[in-house]
Amino acid sequence: MKEKMEGLKQEVICKLQDASDLKMLNELRTTYLGKKGPISALSSMMGSLSTEEKKEFGKALNDLKDEVNTLVEKRKEELERIEMERKLKEDTIDITLPSTKVHVGGTHPITKVIDEVEELFTSMGYDVVEGPEIEQDLYNFEKLNLPKGHPARDSQDSFYITDEMLLRTQTSAVQARTMEANSEKGPIRMICPGKTYRRDNDDATHSHQFTQIEGLVIDQNISMADLKGTLEIFAKKMFGEDRTIRFRPSFFPFTEPSIEVDVSCFKCGGVGCSLCKGNGWIEILGAGMVHPNVLRDNGYDPEKYTGFAFGIGPERVAMLKYGINDIRNFYTNDVRFLNDFNRVNGGDK
Ligand code: PHE
Repeated sequence: MKEKMEGLKQEVICKLQDASDLKMLNELRTTYLGKKGPISALSSMMGSLSTEEKKEFGKALNDLKDEVNTLVEKRKEELERIEMERKLKEDTIDITLPSTKVHVGGTHPITKVIDEVEELFTSMGYDVVEGPEIEQDLYNFEKLNLPKGHPARDSQDSFYITDEMLLRTQTSAVQARTMEANSEKGPIRMICPGKTYRRDNDDATHSHQFTQIEGLVIDQNISMADLKGTLEIFAKKMFGEDRTIRFRPSFFPFTEPSIEVDVSCFKCGGVGCSLCKGNGWIEILGAGMVHPNVLRDNGYDPEKYTGFAFGIGPERVAMLKYGINDIRNFYTNDVRFLNDFNRVNGGDK
């Protein structure tokens, strides 16, 4: 009997070495220690033994069980250690390898200009509002003192969808919407950035789709001096502290008087260079005092309220500010142009 047990033990030791993974080890454990295993079979032989022999044999059998158990546990630990070492080896990171480049996008130049303008005007208490790009003729023209058949409509060749609907040609449509929506007909201070569309043949300075930032202020006693002060702050922020501005008379149907605003050339400081075409000034935007008809048509009493409006062209600002010479670069989304722009202008915020 003793030899048999010793034999079993040797057999287990031998097989344990062959158990090369945890699954095999588990199978081995069940084979030897399970109910149908050789150790169980030995204990069923105990019935035929005397009490003395039973004691001795029982103890020996228990010892054998314990020993086999310990051997299996030991092998288990060993296998787990081997497995862990294998994994660690596999997962080794070679820190000398060059890293994979992660491409990070940057802010589009037009977005950058719009963000800057929004930041400036919100800091002066303006609201940022939005309006629809598919607009009614009513807001895009009629309520802006541009009745049907008005010759000034010709200067904004439009994409009509129906007789009454079009892709807005100017964010000025949002002037009318904002005045109309202000049920108390109280003061307004807003800017409205957004996309606009005109039937233009695309070239270096024209695009059938572009952006505008509308500005509108309405209150009592608003004068042209307020407009000039506001636009001067804008010019300094966008083109540098030393800038001055000047007004030139112009015409827009929804403002009276209407003006075009020039900024002193930021390249030559006003003496004349290629950027300002030698005259020291660069045209940056159109503006004016809100026409009394527009105030009246949108529910404001022109005897009580006055206001100013302006329209900024972010493309023009970006082209001047960042030295971009083709407006199409903004819309063709050539990643080389965008990367160049972000490299020179400090990438994303
Ligand atoms: N909407 C005008 C344009 O597109 C610009 C403008 C806006 C002029 C507001 C005056 C006041 O040309």
